[in-house]
Amino acid sequence: MKISFLGGGNMAAALIGGMVERGFARDDIQVIELSEANRAQLSNRFGVRATAAADAQALACDVLVLAVKPQQMKAALAPLAARLAGQLVISIAAGLRLVDLGRWLGADGQSYTRMVRCMPNTPALIGAGVTGLFADPSVDAGGRDAAERILAAVGSTVWIADEAQMDAVTGVSGSGPAYVFHFIEALEAAGRAQGFDQTTARKLAIDTVLGAARLAAGSDESPAVLRERVTSKGGTTEAALAHLAAAGWHDTLLAAVAAATARGAELGDQLGKD
Ligand SMILES: NC(=O)c1ccc[n+]([C@@H]2O[C@H](COP(=O)([O-])OP(=O)(O)OC[C@H]3O[C@@H](n4cnc5c(N)ncnc54)[C@H](OP(=O)(O)O)[C@@H]3O)[C@@H](O)[C@H]2O)c1
Repeated sequence: MKISFLGGGNMAAALIGGMVERGFARDDIQVIELSEANRAQLSNRFGVRATAAADAQALACDVLVLAVKPQQMKAALAPLAARLAGQLVISIAAGLRLVDLGRWLGADGQSYTRMVRCMPNTPALIGAGVTGLFADPSVDAGGRDAAERILAAVGSTVWIADEAQMDAVTGVSGSGPAYVFHFIEALEAAGRAQGFDQTTARKLAIDTVLGAARLAAGSDESPAVLRERVTSKGGTTEAALAHLAAAGWHDTLLAAVAAATARGAELGDQLGKD
């Protein structure tokens, strides 16, 4: 399977690194990237071909991964319009809808449709991301499988049945790492307030989140059951959880994710204009 990337920044580098580690052939990977420094780095680090423009060799691929910033996408796709011949197009650009990408890539008023839209998150940069994927109905099982194999190089994958729900993927897992970092910050501050130095408070906070997430990921029990197991009657955890419940912690998070989801839809409208 020959794969070309349009854009060779952070996310493309993470994907290429993960793919090479998982046995994708370096010779099958190419990158179209404007920055000379990035091109040199990609070919030195991964041994892949990096080119400044979408030449015929770069477009002689089975899969084209769109990995430029959403705001750069329309201009980046202009030189490709009407030059694709059935390649599977995978977009990892946040917010951009397939209908808009298809219009920008199409020819003679016809939209390009063989596309998969993905929403990874930043832990993908260390191979620990989670990606929501949505495929246009014209994408067959082979195309879905190819997209899944590529995104699985940087973490786990979840298929979404309805593209509108990609905004909710953004709200839950796309922006999610920031909620977790914020939780870590607060837990660290709480440790500081109890008299620990910063190094100790940070270690206690980060390792608690890491360990609890690993325990939850490896358990057959739900997070609610795991929480109940740590919460003995009249104990310390119960005292803390009662405080969080009284402060509306759970509903606040629901409202926060709803706000992120709504903002994702607004950005999709703006990005896809014209
Ligand atoms: N980083 C993440 O964790 C993450 C998570 C979810 C989704 N995403 C999505 O992934 C995409 C890439 O993000 P990123 O963080 O990798 O961005 P990035 O580091 O800025 O990479 C984009 C690269 O594309 C290059 N470029 C711009 N226009 C181009 C063109 N016309 N032809 C070829 N190359 C071009 C840019 O060069 P210049 O710097 O010279 O402009 C830059 O090197 C974005 O759409 C983002 O929404 C990223």
